[in-house]
Amino acid sequence: MRLRSHLLRWLLVPLIALWAIGFRVQYARTLALANEAYDRTLLGSALAMAEQVSVQDGRLGVDVPDAALEMLESRAQDRIFYRVGCLDPPVAVTGYDDLPAPPSASGPGDGQPVFFDARYRGEPVRIVALRRPLYDPHLCGQLLIQVAETLGARQALSRRVLLDAGALQLALVAMAALLITLGVHRGLLPLKRIRDEIRARGQADLTPIRLGSVPREVVPLIEAINLHTNRQRRLNEAHRQFIADASHQLKTPLTVLKAQAAQALAQQDVQAMRDIVQEIHDSTDTTSRMVHQLLALARSDPAATTAQEPVELVELARTVCFDLLTPALARGIELGFDGHAPVTVPGQPLLLRELVANLVDNAIRYTPAGGQVAVAVRRDDTGHACIEVLDDGPGIAPAERETVFERFYRLHGSGADGCGLGLAIVRQIAERHGARVTLGDPPHGHGLLASVRFPG
Ligand SMILES: Nc1ncnc2c1ncn2[C@@H]1O[C@H](COP(=O)(O)OP(=O)(O)OP(=O)(O)O)[C@@H](O)[C@H]1O
Ligand SMILES: [Mg+2]
Repeated sequence: MRLRSHLLRWLLVPLIALWAIGFRVQYARTLALANEAYDRTLLGSALAMAEQVSVQDGRLGVDVPDAALEMLESRAQDRIFYRVGCLDPPVAVTGYDDLPAPPSASGPGDGQPVFFDARYRGEPVRIVALRRPLYDPHLCGQLLIQVAETLGARQALSRRVLLDAGALQLALVAMAALLITLGVHRGLLPLKRIRDEIRARGQADLTPIRLGSVPREVVPLIEAINLHTNRQRRLNEAHRQFIADASHQLKTPLTVLKAQAAQALAQQDVQAMRDIVQEIHDSTDTTSRMVHQLLALARSDPAATTAQEPVELVELARTVCFDLLTPALARGIELGFDGHAPVTVPGQPLLLRELVANLVDNAIRYTPAGGQVAVAVRRDDTGHACIEVLDDGPGIAPAERETVFERFYRLHGSGADGCGLGLAIVRQIAERHGARVTLGDPPHGHGLLASVRFPG
């Protein structure tokens, strides 16, 4: 759809329709005014004729005066008919006997002329009818004087007035069309500038579009596009970062694995080979954990958008705890869960599982054997959904509580397994859900309290 033709259609079609209606109304009005003016002259000649009716020797006589018809003379293109006669019985004295009589319902009152339209000799005519009393009981009581004229002059006048005005109005409509086209063209120039600017860009250029002098109505559109490209840029940046991180992080364990495999192959002694294969097995575990974490990090990218659905957190966290029960028991950790009333938030269940799993995994991993880990899901005093993971391990010093969220950051003495991505994943997933993650001290004793607070 072209904006120009759309605007023109919406502005010009109604304008032309209005002009046509106005033209029609004006025609009727002009005709009425012309009738009024011409009727007066028509009446004048009827009155002049009425003056000339006389009774001589008991007979009615009319001396149709030249003056009566002269009044109408100037309208050379029109034809004049008249009739003077008795009203009752309807007998003509002079003139055209078959001139149409006035409509009976509105027959001429005493002295009051009646104007009406009729057809005479195949032509439309305007007639004035005048009634005059005649005080001669032998002849007739009332005289009827009628003068008719064809409509040529009236129509010619209204047509001329109309054509003048109509042509002027039409010229105005044409001017309006021209101005609208020019206005739209000028209004669209900034958009063309933006189009050229974007076309000329390099493939990877995702910088925001300059607003410049775009019309104010278009600003929200440009802003939305800029928001979109900004998201795209962050997504690209995240992908680039991910590939850089992944290749860097995977290089070391793969080199180690390769070296271990070469070492195993070089062994003659089966037991020595088995020991190295066991090391390969452990390294594979670490590497696969890293691959898992890297993929989780990529999936939880806040710039990526996927549909949200209602997620029941109590059930979700319970399942995660159940899955992690075996590693917890293996490490001699007691894992407890507290969650009763359902707590539902909008979100992505797979990501929220990843979030809870990372927090619980940390608690189990960094709490020494014999320790306790408690997971609780509830709504807090202000009605916000909350997930809390509490442990009685070494905790994290307040100064480190922010840095541990950085990618690949690990505290000294955290052990070999683990790649430092868990809390970064937790934060990303929380951000995507508008939630806030905080690390704090547990209410009693030592350890760590990790809590995630959702907006709703
Ligand atoms: N509950 C905890 N108690 C004590 N230290 C913790 C706890 N949770 C995390 N940490 C510290 O924060 C660091 C970062 O944790 P994070 O989960 O991001 O990485 P990670 O556990 O080392 O690796 P992974 O990516 O496999 O989870 C950990 O190395 C650990 O030193
Ligand atoms: Mg971790």
